[in-house]
Amino acid sequence: MEIRSVRDEADLSGATLVAGVLAGRQPLPGDEDLINAIDESLLDFVKFEGKTGQVAAVPHDEAEMLVLVGLGEEVGFETLRSAMGNAVRAIKTPRAVTHLGQVDIEGALRAVVEGAELGSYQYRRYKTEGEALALETLEIVDADDDVVAETLETTRATNLARDWINTPAKDKAPSELALLIQSSAADAGLSVELWDEPRIVEESLGALLGVAAGSDRPPRLLIIRHLPTSPVSHLGLVGKGITFDSGGLSLKTAAFMEEMKDDMSGAATVAAATIAIAKLGLPVTVTTVIPLTDNAVGGNATRPGDVLKPVEGPTIEVLNTDAEGRLILADGLGVVRRYEPDMIVDVATLTGAARVALGDKIGAVFSSDPDLASQILSAASVAGEDFWEMPLYQDYKKSLESDIADIKNISGSRYGGAVVAALFLSHYAGDAPWAHLDIAGPARSRETAGERVKGASGVGVRTLIELARTLARIG
Ligand code: BES
Ligand code: ZN
Ligand code: ZN
Repeated sequence: MEIRSVRDEADLSGATLVAGVLAGRQPLPGDEDLINAIDESLLDFVKFEGKTGQVAAVPHDEAEMLVLVGLGEEVGFETLRSAMGNAVRAIKTPRAVTHLGQVDIEGALRAVVEGAELGSYQYRRYKTEGEALALETLEIVDADDDVVAETLETTRATNLARDWINTPAKDKAPSELALLIQSSAADAGLSVELWDEPRIVEESLGALLGVAAGSDRPPRLLIIRHLPTSPVSHLGLVGKGITFDSGGLSLKTAAFMEEMKDDMSGAATVAAATIAIAKLGLPVTVTTVIPLTDNAVGGNATRPGDVLKPVEGPTIEVLNTDAEGRLILADGLGVVRRYEPDMIVDVATLTGAARVALGDKIGAVFSSDPDLASQILSAASVAGEDFWEMPLYQDYKKSLESDIADIKNISGSRYGGAVVAALFLSHYAGDAPWAHLDIAGPARSRETAGERVKGASGVGVRTLIELARTLARIG
């Protein structure tokens, strides 16, 4: 979709006009005539009252159609973004015009652009039937072009991550996904190193190799670097890139396996964020490390009881091969630490327990450093993504003691799984401030509503970009 700014006297012929309505059918300031001209019985008929989530299409004198979106009691950034997401799916003309970028709230224009771009996302690669959305051009009255352009970088990055995540595992073998990410990163002018299996062996990434051992599709590791000329700080990112998580020999049941093509969401998130940070030219060095592998059940698969040796840090007794994300992240963290970043953030669909704790819409943040935790939480809040802090409760570390190796990869208790997984990672994170984002809950949207579209959510991309903006500001 193209989004552009137009002057007030926008041409409405053949276009859809999009307007917001407050609860009780109250018009926004300036929209009184527009709303009062609507035949009330039409709105009664479609039960449109201006509640959040409501959409109605009604006739209009000049425009082809008027699409009304409910804004609820009071307009806020998230209600406006969500309303715009609902609007774009209701539009039946190629062109639409809206004044909603001028609503008198902080970030109105950004909310409109985000809602439109994220809400109109569709993954149609395998669809041979059905139609794509009609809308091709959205004209926002009196929009600031710089804000539009900057917002588009973040929404495009989110949609890029969604595309990679929605791709079936069959079509994103580690080698293929590595090339996809590499080519998008190269387009953004980023320097990319791609390690193949022999190189991974040479570098002694024993944990990544242990997870990869069960698959015929060899692993890869990507190192993407954004190297601005005068950086104010250096952010290290690591993303979990399991291209399919069968559980390995600790095999998942069918229902739990259904969504496991998503298990590279962390990888997609950090890659897409790095690309956007580069395109936005933010003065922060970013080193992004992405281990990519299947977790499969071939004859050479790692067995429960086997011991793996990551490149750096404690040896690991693998008692459950389904706790594989933490294994490849151990090596990812080991590699990123070589670059001595000022702080490290890893992103992973790591534990079902994080989803049990926080549900499908909230990601978990763990951090060794209170300042980094609060920077991430404020960045998430500005970005309009929902994260909640969870504790690195040190006492549980004991539960990872192993009889034969330095540590084991599960605790043996059913409880506190997200905390235990984070504590496992803390063994490999080094001394610089580190944070871990467990996005097992919100990585996938279970319904289409507002800016969310059923399928991959791309959660975390906008928070990481906003974090880089924060770092650029504070130095
Ligand atoms: N990829 C899963 C976690 C997951 C679960 C992501 C649900 C998205 C939705 C991870 O590799 C896993 O299987 N974790 C195990 C850990 C357990 C064996 C300690 C889990 O959460 O059950
Ligand atoms: Zn697993
Ligand atoms: Zn997994």
